[in-house]
Amino acid sequence: MLNVGVLASGSGSNFQAIIDEVAAGRLNCQIKLLIVDNPNAYAIERAKRHSIECLYINPDEFPTEDIFFIKVAMELRARDVELVVLAGFMRIVGKLLVDAFPGKIMNIHPALLPSFPGLYSQKQAIDYSVKISGCTVHFVDEGVDTGPVIIQAAVPVSPEDTEKTLSERILKLEHKILPEAIRLYAEGRLKIKGRVVKIEGCETRNECIINPPLR
Ligand code: GAR
Repeated sequence: MLNVGVLASGSGSNFQAIIDEVAAGRLNCQIKLLIVDNPNAYAIERAKRHSIECLYINPDEFPTEDIFFIKVAMELRARDVELVVLAGFMRIVGKLLVDAFPGKIMNIHPALLPSFPGLYSQKQAIDYSVKISGCTVHFVDEGVDTGPVIIQAAVPVSPEDTEKTLSERILKLEHKILPEAIRLYAEGRLKIKGRVVKIEGCETRNECIINPPLR
């Protein structure tokens, strides 16, 4: 069984999606720890409800961000975490954490990377008037949302969409592809070669894309 550590900053609905898949027996993982950098994150309540250990680590208590990330890495290591999942973690992960878990950190991003990296991706998509957006699960490297892509899912964007309606539509798909990426990792089916993430048993790239039907 794969030991997973989750980092979150907010509502934690992606964290909940992972919890639900584990509870349903569809994800052979144990969530060892939730780390939050925000004491008001609703994710904390979700952890409590499911008896998952939760640590609030206050970045302001550390002289530098690097030292904060060393502390995060130490806590994850202390619980034998094998995969770190960023589930709405609103902080650029420091090099020290990336180096401590090479190829073992995943992030869910609410856009089709490399479009609209960073913050407020859904607003960026609306402002750009794209016709299609979506979400991406990728491995984390030292850049901002630049690591190798694992799974993407697309949603149509209509002229009536607002940041809120688009965010809601994308979030529904995030809840599908994030647990799916963790499942593939837990099954040992993800092989990283440079920028390419090969999914064993998934011979063409098209099979790895989840396309919801248009409304
Ligand atoms: C999600 O949309 C996630 O993709 C995004 O924050 C939201 C968290 O929702 N993450 C980022 O923007 C990271 N740059 P949640 O707390 O309900 O899972």
